[in-house]
This record gives sequence, structure tokens and C-alpha cells, in this order.
Amino acid sequence: MKIISVSDKNEMSKKAAQIILELIKEKPNAVLGLATGGTPEGTYKELVVDHQKNETSYCQIHTVNLDEYVGINPEDPNSYHSYMESHFFKYIDLPKDQRFLPDGKNTSVEACAHYDNLIESLGGVDLQLLGIGRNGHIGFNEPGTPLTMGTHVVQLTESTRKANARFFGSLSEVPEQAITMGIGTILKSKKIVLIASGEEKAEAMNRMLHFSVPDDCFPASALVQHPDVTVIADEAALSLIKFSKE
Ligand code: F6R
Repeated sequence: MKIISVSDKNEMSKKAAQIILELIKEKPNAVLGLATGGTPEGTYKELVVDHQKNETSYCQIHTVNLDEYVGINPEDPNSYHSYMESHFFKYIDLPKDQRFLPDGKNTSVEACAHYDNLIESLGGVDLQLLGIGRNGHIGFNEPGTPLTMGTHVVQLTESTRKANARFFGSLSEVPEQAITMGIGTILKSKKIVLIASGEEKAEAMNRMLHFSVPDDCFPASALVQHPDVTVIADEAALSLIKFSKE
């Protein structure tokens, strides 16, 4: 696991965008695994600015998102479909039929298997962008999720719903379930870039970097098994780490 320490969220966003752009340059038809939430917003902004300035094209790219809330329509402003549209997709030349997110309205076992099959049929994810939850979740794989699972439906923990209530009117509006790529799905990605910013992620980063073997009590610990993980974190997120940083 390579750790890149940056000064702040702005630098984190720039660095993550730079890694994604390097991949697109090298492989214009790459499959990008994307995340939502507060952390990647700046990365999408950087990519949009680059698209406008340098005309980097997404016309051959496919994207697959990590997760979606269960029970909300894609058009709902709180859906991750809407998030991707408003933060990224509407600004770039990525064809509509090359963007994929789990379907929050179809949570059958078949639909979950279909999402994993779809990713495989695209040739697998070349680069998966991840954030991290305060409890160590990646995607919406909450503590206790078996680390081999494919896409599945999860019960969101109270702490995750509370953390995400800032995007909704109130806690009661935050869905109780989500459909997420499993850790097994995530680990199949060829390259993983995890971004983290702010003091509220310091405890999770500290825990993640101290695992030498995966433990399902802390889902992000699964990343120690992967050969190509880059963590980009700002000083606040790394503030509890005692060992030397790159
Ligand atoms: C989002 C996702 C989640 C978030 C995590 C951190 O697609 O899969 O794992 O990355 O909840 O969220 P923020 O960035 O809002 O702190």
C-alpha cells in the first residue's frame, strides 16, 4: 500500500484526478470505478476543469459506481445517480450508455449478480476510487460484512446514516439500506485509489494502516490483500499516524 500525504483536501483532489487522468491517457477506454460522498467532489471538479481546458475525452470510458441507496428513484436529488450527474457526468462527454450504477429499485439477488457480471463483461475495473467511512466501510460494506462478497444489499449502520444525514433534510430521510459492490468485487479492481480528508477520518485511517491481515470487523482492512492500492490523504486524516509518510 502506497501512502501519499498531502497538505489538504484540495491537494488530495488534484492528486487523485492526476492519477485518473494518467490512466485515461494510457488507456482511453478504461473502466473507472467511482465513489460518491463528500470526499470525491473536488476530484470530480478537477476532472471537469481538465476536460474543459485540455479536452480529455471520456467517449470510450465506461464507469461503474460503488453503490446506491435502496428505494430511491434515480431522479431523486439524493440518489447517487443524481450525485454523479450533477458533480461529473453532465460536464463530460461520457455516453449515457457507458455509465453504470447499481439499481436501488431492483435489489434482487439476480440484479446484484448482474452488476458483478456487467463489471466482468466490461473487462473489470481498471481503477477504483474509494472513500472511507468513519467505521472503516468502503463502498457501503459495513463492519462484519464477509470480505469475499460480491454486490449485495446492506443494512446501513446508525453511524453511516448519521454521517450521511448532512445530504438529506433529516436523519429519518436517510434510507436504511443500500446496494453496494462487495469487498470481493472491489478487490478485483486492477488498481485502487483511496482518498481521505479531515480529522473525522483520522481514526479510520489509523486503524486501516495498522492491519497486516484483513479483518471483517474493519472492512477497509481488506485492502492489505490488494497489490496496487494508493492512499491519498491529507494531514488531518493522517494526524494519528505515527510512522513516516511518503
Ligand atoms: C460512497 C461510498 C462510501 C463513502 C464513505 C465516505 O460511494 O461508497 O464508502 O466513500 O461513506 O463518505 P464521505 O466522502 O462523504 O465522507
